[in-house]
Amino acid sequence: MQVLDTRARPLRDLRISVTDRCNFRCVYCMPKEVFGRNYEFLPRADLLSFEEIERVVRAAARLGVRKARITGGEPLVRRDLERLVALLARLPLDLTLTTNGALLADKARALAAAGLHRITVSLDALDDATFRAFNDVDFPVARVLEGIEAARAAGLLVKVNCVVKRGTNEGEILPLARHFRATGDTLRFIEYMDVGTTNGWRLDDVVPAAEIVALLQREFPLEPVEPGYRGEVARRYRYRDGAGEIGVIASVTQPFCGDCTRLRLSADGKLYTCLFAARGHDVRALLRDGGDDDELTAFLARLWRVRSDRYSELRTATTAAEPKVEMSYIGG
Ligand SMILES: C[S@@+](CC[C@H](N)C(=O)[O-])C[C@H]1O[C@@H](n2cnc3c(N)ncnc32)[C@H](O)[C@@H]1O
Ligand code: SF4
Repeated sequence: MQVLDTRARPLRDLRISVTDRCNFRCVYCMPKEVFGRNYEFLPRADLLSFEEIERVVRAAARLGVRKARITGGEPLVRRDLERLVALLARLPLDLTLTTNGALLADKARALAAAGLHRITVSLDALDDATFRAFNDVDFPVARVLEGIEAARAAGLLVKVNCVVKRGTNEGEILPLARHFRATGDTLRFIEYMDVGTTNGWRLDDVVPAAEIVALLQREFPLEPVEPGYRGEVARRYRYRDGAGEIGVIASVTQPFCGDCTRLRLSADGKLYTCLFAARGHDVRALLRDGGDDDELTAFLARLWRVRSDRYSELRTATTAAEPKVEMSYIGG
């Protein structure tokens, strides 16, 4: 069954945040001044259990969701995550997971054994000092690179995402491209976004995707690749010498709301129809009050049918200051 929103966009993707906690304090996501020692994270009892998550994903799959991404906070800090992977891997979905890679060297094999085929690792710099400054917990880049290797060795298909922030890691664009051209992993550069309200985002901090592509082109001749499917957010390019692909995600300069087919589930069971929404819709109450699978599916369908979000198309300097859910809570 297919369900369309008010702008005729089908529901196709689900992002599942399994925790709002993280072992990093990336400056663009969970700045230490805000998410420091006394920040109140969700109490454990508020989190959906793996079985509850699986029920929501199954209902979403009945409505046409074909791709699910496990995220967070940092998903690998949630205990026994491979058990959730095993539950979701049985569903007719393309399943993937986004991680900062800090714990990946230890967990890659268990994740692959549980049925995960693909993984996205966030990595904003190869230079150790720059990387430590980005994660703001002094975490060494070498450990993340080990995690990426362990993932590859476990048979996972690896993609790498890098957020580019003006004045901080533009100098890392070419070194990252050189490194991942050689390993064959797909690398994607993401424009810094005004998610949440804590990162002090300014339009001037955004390095436009066009600028990133122009920089790459100077060293590596590239040619555009046709989108693989409707709603693909990355603009893909092929290295002309055949050394794989690279992509850019131009969420700010070329918004893709028109093709946005994504629903997001927070760790405490709220559904968000937009990354920039201020408010979620509680599905946990329905799960815990004995709602059956048909009720659950109807709840999701109702929510999707009235959806009209297109925040990025309407973005201005002033909308950036509006209340919005934090990225670390909803998972990007
Ligand atoms: C919120 S994280 C959650 C998963 C995991 N902790 C990680 O870092 O991959 C998901 C993705 O959002 C990206 N992200 C966080 N804040 C962002 C921002 N302000 N603009 C663009 N991307 C952002 C991260 O770089 C990461 O690739
Ligand atoms: S981007 Fe990921 S790793 Fe960095 S603080 Fe946010 S949730 Fe943690």
